[in-house]
Amino acid sequence: FIDNISAIEVMDSRGNPTVKATVELSDGTRESAVVPSGASTGKREALELRDGGNRYMGKGVLQAVDNVNGPIADALIGYSPFNQAIVDATMKELDGTDNYGNLGANAVLGVSMAVARAAAKSLGIPLYRYLGGANAMVMPTPMLNIINGGSHADNSVDFQEYMIMPVGFEDFSEGLRASAEVYHNLKAILKAKKHNTALGDEGGFAPDLSSNEEPIQIIMEAIEKAGYKAGEQMAIALDVAASELVVDGGYRLESENRTVSSEELAEYYVDLCSKYPIVSIEDGLSEDDWDGWKILTEKLGNKVQLVGDDLFVTNVNILNEGINKGIANSILIKPNQIGSVSETMLTVRLAQRNGYTTVMSHRSGESEDAFIADFAVALNCGQIKTGSTARGERTAKYNRLLEIETEVVYGEYLGSKIFN
Ligand code: PGA
Ligand code: ZN
Repeated sequence: FIDNISAIEVMDSRGNPTVKATVELSDGTRESAVVPSGASTGKREALELRDGGNRYMGKGVLQAVDNVNGPIADALIGYSPFNQAIVDATMKELDGTDNYGNLGANAVLGVSMAVARAAAKSLGIPLYRYLGGANAMVMPTPMLNIINGGSHADNSVDFQEYMIMPVGFEDFSEGLRASAEVYHNLKAILKAKKHNTALGDEGGFAPDLSSNEEPIQIIMEAIEKAGYKAGEQMAIALDVAASELVVDGGYRLESENRTVSSEELAEYYVDLCSKYPIVSIEDGLSEDDWDGWKILTEKLGNKVQLVGDDLFVTNVNILNEGINKGIANSILIKPNQIGSVSETMLTVRLAQRNGYTTVMSHRSGESEDAFIADFAVALNCGQIKTGSTARGERTAKYNRLLEIETEVVYGEYLGSKIFN
């Protein structure tokens, strides 16, 4: 049974505090988990509880820590760690709101993840096997964010993420190797063009470029220089994070000095997709622009993966609404948007039942915790988005997947087959 639950405040990858929760079982097992944090957050995400005031520029999480040490521990001590749903539902009920407005999703998720980890450890099985059972065998195809823009970098690029996807490789490790080679070639090309090669929050480069198309052109060059076939072996994915571009009267593309309508932005994507091997576009339009999303889905939905991140915020009800309205065809999965392991699983199941692809995802503020690597395999998500092949908090996830790959017999790496 759960013998003790506690939390402390630790550092995330941007130097902001976050919650580290620890669960101790009666058999002596002791496991911890660290909660991530976003920058371009969706409006309908579960509440991330911050202290305010002067400490840590208002971002302290001591209140969330107290909520773990006090009410959450009091409620869960004595419970079995092997019934994740009961543990998670108990915290939900204790909170009493539908967005963890009292306890904070950062408090609740930390405990939820730590309980899962402790349960797995106690049984002597890996976390992906505990959460996914014998059926967990799909190694995710990674989306690697190698050029960072938007609110993840202080450069001129409007779109937030330019990613590569190694879709034409036999297994995860080969795909990752090829991606790292593209990353190094990209650095050399940026250097030769006298661009800045400093890294953004997710480990991609953050050069000042003069349009939102130029990063794609440079990535195409890098793929070729690395010796890979663009499209067949290495595809391109975008996360526009368009909710961040909204101004009065449309979407502001600052680097191109123009403001466009939903329809024009959708046409821009159609044009980009006709010129480049773009297989996935995330948050192409704003979370509030459901009419625009409908148009975008009609225009591109049968050719390109259209991923809802801010749009769906890993929320089973909002996803359900999207499915009913025929909006998007894929969902980004961020456990801290919804607040617990069990609720994340429910959302993934709804997506999978309805033919929506699922992309397990980090946040721009991360830690060394690699929970999502195991979680992606456990749920057979098929895809994972966890930054570039640089910065320890990003490589922690890839390195964990490399380890899992050596263990998963019958492991499948689907590559471009994930889109079929
Ligand atoms: P965030 O960005 O973690 O800053 O929200 C990641 C994303 O938009 O996918
Ligand atoms: Zn996103």
